[in-house]
Amino acid sequence: MKEQILSILPDSCPWREHLHWFESIDSTNLRAKEMAKQGAPHGTVLIAGCQTGGRGRGDRSFSSPAGLGMYLSVILRPGCAPRDLMHLTCAAAVAGCDAVMQAAGFRPRIKWTNDLVVGKQKLGGILTELSVDPKTGLVDYAIVGIGINCLQKEEDFPPQLQQIATSLSMVCNQQITPVTMASAMIETLARLDLADKKTILAQYEKGCMTLGKEIVLVRGEEVLYGTAVGLDPDGGLIVRFRDGTVRPVNSGEVSVRGMYGYV
Ligand code: BTN
Repeated sequence: MKEQILSILPDSCPWREHLHWFESIDSTNLRAKEMAKQGAPHGTVLIAGCQTGGRGRGDRSFSSPAGLGMYLSVILRPGCAPRDLMHLTCAAAVAGCDAVMQAAGFRPRIKWTNDLVVGKQKLGGILTELSVDPKTGLVDYAIVGIGINCLQKEEDFPPQLQQIATSLSMVCNQQITPVTMASAMIETLARLDLADKKTILAQYEKGCMTLGKEIVLVRGEEVLYGTAVGLDPDGGLIVRFRDGTVRPVNSGEVSVRGMYGYV
């Protein structure tokens, strides 16, 4: 598989060098963190054929059956302050949409903050994690994990996901393999200029289907209602609450649902 991915990736892609393929793994994000702690360099890419403990935001699981999805994590060492990386999930979402466009010829939408969606269904998700060096206060490493459903048919998803999940095959009726998807994903992630926050957030805003929608915000036991009215300069969601107050929320604080279901 590694050879197949390398044969598709352009020679100019700077991340060809540290590519790791795992037939089966607990979670590429978890393993990426272990490798980062052991000193793996910027641009180290981990790809798995299946994950036995694929994770999503809020400690949810991410369905990762063998051979049907793309499961990929990248180690970044941007050497910046954590506040300069607040938009990392947004950046990865834009790269995810670019990669799907490149591999499958259509552009998913983004459900704030980290889901790639088509119509009312989830195509994939992003899980970013940061570690800060306590001595310098700078980011030691960041992990960007992305999962995209590629070849699943409806019955390949667990019953509770069948109404809300989709795959590249289901959307475009073509067999876009995890290898093809991973190659495109590596290319678009490697091209991201994280320092150019303005451009990234402008692209994110264009692709974000949550904006303008009435939403439900869930914070622990608390449920709040509002309208998503914009993005703040870090990619936080600006919400007009029912009591008239307007303030940004961040993805660590709340999870967002549509008024009538997942989107
Ligand atoms: C979400 O849906 O909330 C995010 C899902 C992220 C899944 C990817 S698959 C590759 C990487 N490894 C993981 O365990 N999670 C991410």
